[in-house]
Amino acid sequence: MSTLDGRELILGVTGSIAAYKAVYLLRELTRLGARVTVCLSEHARQFVGPLTFRTLSGRPVLTDLFDPQSDEAVEHVALAERAHAVLVAPATANVLAKAAHGIADDFLTTLLLAARGAVLMVPAMDGGMWEHPAVAANVATLRQRGVTVLEPETGELASGLGGRGRFPEVDRVVEALLGALVPVRDLGSERVLITAGPTREPIDPVRYISNRSSGKMGYALATAAARRGARVTLVSGPTTIAPPPAAVFVPVQTAEEMREAVLHHAREATIVIKAAAVADYRAKRLSPTKIKGKQDLTLELTPNPDILREVAARRTGAFVVGFAAETHDVAANARAKLEAKGIDLLVANDVSRAGIGFDADENEVLLIDRWGGSRALPRMSKAAVADAILSAILALRAASAARVGR
Ligand code: PMT
Repeated sequence: MSTLDGRELILGVTGSIAAYKAVYLLRELTRLGARVTVCLSEHARQFVGPLTFRTLSGRPVLTDLFDPQSDEAVEHVALAERAHAVLVAPATANVLAKAAHGIADDFLTTLLLAARGAVLMVPAMDGGMWEHPAVAANVATLRQRGVTVLEPETGELASGLGGRGRFPEVDRVVEALLGALVPVRDLGSERVLITAGPTREPIDPVRYISNRSSGKMGYALATAAARRGARVTLVSGPTTIAPPPAAVFVPVQTAEEMREAVLHHAREATIVIKAAAVADYRAKRLSPTKIKGKQDLTLELTPNPDILREVAARRTGAFVVGFAAETHDVAANARAKLEAKGIDLLVANDVSRAGIGFDADENEVLLIDRWGGSRALPRMSKAAVADAILSAILALRAASAARVGR
């Protein structure tokens, strides 16, 4: 189950060149289980036709071709009242102005006045427009009223110029939506310890052994767990990602440092998730000075401790989850790894495939549990994978408790 399961959403699309990005957003929202009704402004229809949205949402698309006096229109206003959230993505300067001033002169702006759930605006416009004082004042008014207005990203704009005004990545929109929705606090009584990123094993003062982990998967788990109410400790190797503000953040460099931090914090954890890519080896002898010269060099390596196996062996009562980075025979290797490490759940990903795994924004994983079950999740954003993993942990733990109680 994902956290958008059964959520009723209205996706308003307005007339920006970024309107096509709303198609990708809609696809992700429906993949996450949301029921989405799309409302296209008259100008949005110049960029993308209703049929695309209708096909992806499986619902009729609202346009101004609707007669506002018809029963159907009244029904849709009632839908806006019931909806968990109304998103406007992309939101033009025009719709921001209308929403700030309560103007309801088309279907979408009428729905915005009727909305009782969260309202999220995803602006996309030219950089100069975004910085115009009138737009800034409208955004400030909306934010004061509790509307979530995302900051656009900086980069190349449709005008060919650079600047701030780009429609953000779909992941960022989904994450903001999850934050704006009344959160599911199903992890409110959990203490979740998560590891993320690579470790760095020094060779000399300037060089190290490491791997391609960016930390995105582990940070997505930490963000999702914190949003769902858990007390989160994030033990992370070096990454360029900002940790979620609500998490206790423990930065580390080497596998030894990660081991120490993990064993310390695992004592209190109810769930441990090891998404980090720990270097399997470190240099046996560290050169205290920078290694010089052009001659062949033999590096002697020694294995690092297996932190995951050690945590599981301590049997603290925590539900222990490992990840497996595989390149072939994923299911068989993952099952063997689960058993060798003595853990409850293993999340396997094929890191030889482009677009998923290391440093990608999406992942496609296989969940293998110690009760013999396995479940393949489709390719989706790491934020969505994180939520699915957390939901799977709760379901597996509840099922295991029920078996014991029987
Ligand atoms: O960080 P990203 O760029 O988002 O990429 C995500 C990811 C590919 C790193 C992630 O999805 C992933 O697969 N993480 C585990 C990578 C890995 O080290 O896999 P492994 O099969 O070598 O290790 C298996 C498990 O044992 C892992 O949970 C690992 O944290 C743990 N381990 C490994 C070695 C070691 N010495 N100690 C450990 O605890």
